Amino acid sequence: AEVYRKGLKFERPPFTFQTTDWEPQAKEVLSASAWGYVYGSAGQRETHNKNLAAFKKWGIIPNRLVDANYPDLSTTLFGEKFQSPIAIAPVGVQKIFNPEGEIATATAASKEGVLYIMSSASSTSIEDVAKANGEGPRWYQLYWPSNEDNDITISILERAKKAGFTVLVVTLDTYMLGWRPSDMNNGYNPFLRPDSIGVEIGFTDPVFQRKFKLKHGKDIKEDLGTAAAEWARTIFPGRSHGWDNLKFLRENWSGPIVLKGIQTITDAQRAVAAGMDGIVVSNHGGRQQDGGPSSLEQLPKIARAVGDKISILFDSGVRCGADIAKALALGASMVLVGRPYVYGLSLGGEEGVRHVLKSLAGELSCTLHLAGIPGAGRDILNEDCLVREV
Ligand code: FNR
Repeated sequence: AEVYRKGLKFERPPFTFQTTDWEPQAKEVLSASAWGYVYGSAGQRETHNKNLAAFKKWGIIPNRLVDANYPDLSTTLFGEKFQSPIAIAPVGVQKIFNPEGEIATATAASKEGVLYIMSSASSTSIEDVAKANGEGPRWYQLYWPSNEDNDITISILERAKKAGFTVLVVTLDTYMLGWRPSDMNNGYNPFLRPDSIGVEIGFTDPVFQRKFKLKHGKDIKEDLGTAAAEWARTIFPGRSHGWDNLKFLRENWSGPIVLKGIQTITDAQRAVAAGMDGIVVSNHGGRQQDGGPSSLEQLPKIARAVGDKISILFDSGVRCGADIAKALALGASMVLVGRPYVYGLSLGGEEGVRHVLKSLAGELSCTLHLAGIPGAGRDILNEDCLVREV
């Protein structure tokens, strides 16, 4: 409501309110490599394009004379109440988009009451992100090293716990990077930069430091290039874990665990059987495997199958407030946003991310209110509020 009223007073925003403008505007300010990295999706961008198109198959049908005030945007997960159903999706190497990187985003999230999910591939350490995020809610996303690096995983989980990250999000779709023509054409891998921007978590990890010295006979600082390659190999080991390995994470993480990258009912049921607390229905914004369905079309099926047994979060293709309303209605309790806030970060640092979060929350609130839907919680907003268009 606040954003909407300010918008009507024509206070000048840092950049436009039209969310479709953000991508071309960000392209103007970014280097070709950084732009290629954020925009880049796998293969022919089929999954990516389907992610966006899927939202248009659903229409929000308004109810009238519902006698309601501005809607309640809060949502509850794992017994904790969140002010907003929007979350910052884990995105690595944010310093390639703005020198403030994760510090700007984690500060913006905290100021907007939005959950910050920190990436394993961050260009800022766990401890510095926690400091910037202050009292804000924060979760840690794990790129899961292979079993021979379990000591590194344990060290990182301990650091995250100590720094106040409450939930562990384990990304399952990225044990190797996807086939991304934009990065390959640019000869660009943000994890192998000479300034080692993408590997801060590894470089600040005592166990990784010790293992590197044992293997290479020198300190990380003496050979940043080799160390960067070693960390990239550690978090993208090229080999997938199996369902049994989740026991190891359960033993070494005391809070809730969420699996990110689930796309089938069967895997969602396996997550329930493995005692997981939540799943993110996600295809990584179409950046990993191409030729798949949209993430949104998988959501209602999965929600119907396991929605009463496990918390369901969603991402991939969300670009505006109405998209968020649709994902919530189709079964998500929390909706993660990736590229839109990266564009905001590129355009205006902390203020830019805040503008994106305000725009999305403002439009979500407006959409729900005008549709006569009094809140974003699972008990209020559900599939009955929508109809599928043909
Ligand atoms: C990502 N994503 C991602 N996911 C993850 O689990 N760990 C990570 O480090 C990253 N890094 C990353 C970098 C960039 C530049 C992008 C755009 C995305 C995926 C992210 O969390 C999310 O799943 C998608 O971004 C959602 O799709 P949209 O919102 O970008 O369409």
